[in-house]
Amino acid sequence: MSNKPIGIFDSGIGGTSIFNEIITLLPKENCIYLADSKNAPYGDKSQSEILQLSIKNTELLLEKQCKLVVVACNTATTNAISYLRATYNIPFIGIEPAIKPAAIHTKTKAIGILATKGTLSSALFHKTSDLYARGIKVIEQIGEGIVPLIEAGKLDSKDMKMLLKQYLEPMIKANIDYLVLGCTHYPYLVPQLSKLLPKHIKIIDSGLAVAKQTEAILSKHNVLNLESKSPIINIFTNGNIDILNSILNHQYKTEYLDF
Ligand code: DGL
Repeated sequence: MSNKPIGIFDSGIGGTSIFNEIITLLPKENCIYLADSKNAPYGDKSQSEILQLSIKNTELLLEKQCKLVVVACNTATTNAISYLRATYNIPFIGIEPAIKPAAIHTKTKAIGILATKGTLSSALFHKTSDLYARGIKVIEQIGEGIVPLIEAGKLDSKDMKMLLKQYLEPMIKANIDYLVLGCTHYPYLVPQLSKLLPKHIKIIDSGLAVAKQTEAILSKHNVLNLESKSPIINIFTNGNIDILNSILNHQYKTEYLDF
């Protein structure tokens, strides 16, 4: 069982930011990554559409014998993970915006959250926000249009800069000192965001926490891969393979798959 792969999926190439954290922390694990770029963005879809897509991805990963599934997408986690956990007999790791650490550490008592519409409107997001951010001003911003630009490989474009400027301005005015990246595509924008934000604003995401949780759950179930042979990494996309390869710095074997 421990030789079986960890399955990871996202609406596209963004979840590779989580995949990178996982293989750094768990370099002996075999991994399968699914980039559902054909259906990106998930963030503008209805909850039932997000659920159906999450089921499709999960069932493909189960067919490929995965021992655990990481839902490397805030939108899919907040809208579908409770159904997935109740339906399939393997552990699921999800990702949610890192409101808790931002709320604990803020000195200005104001934090910004950039995430998709699907995440910000979900019941799970509201529950987490009510639980941890009481008494703190939370500036929520839907990152409309950002994911399609990243999926098109346009991280450094004028359009991206314009969108980010527009989304950050109200947060800077509200005197935030933490910006929470609530979408797994956004860590790829840290260089662009850093240029637009005043130096004292810290950018945080949940990537490392997800990798640590993956390790903890594999260990709890006694299925950590302790063999030292080189791991098998398979990355599949139903979208543009060149853009996927470029975001992964051409380091892995990638394949087009129609799923
Ligand atoms: N990367 C995803 C997330 O973490 C979804 C982005 C999208 O497809 O809208 O929310």
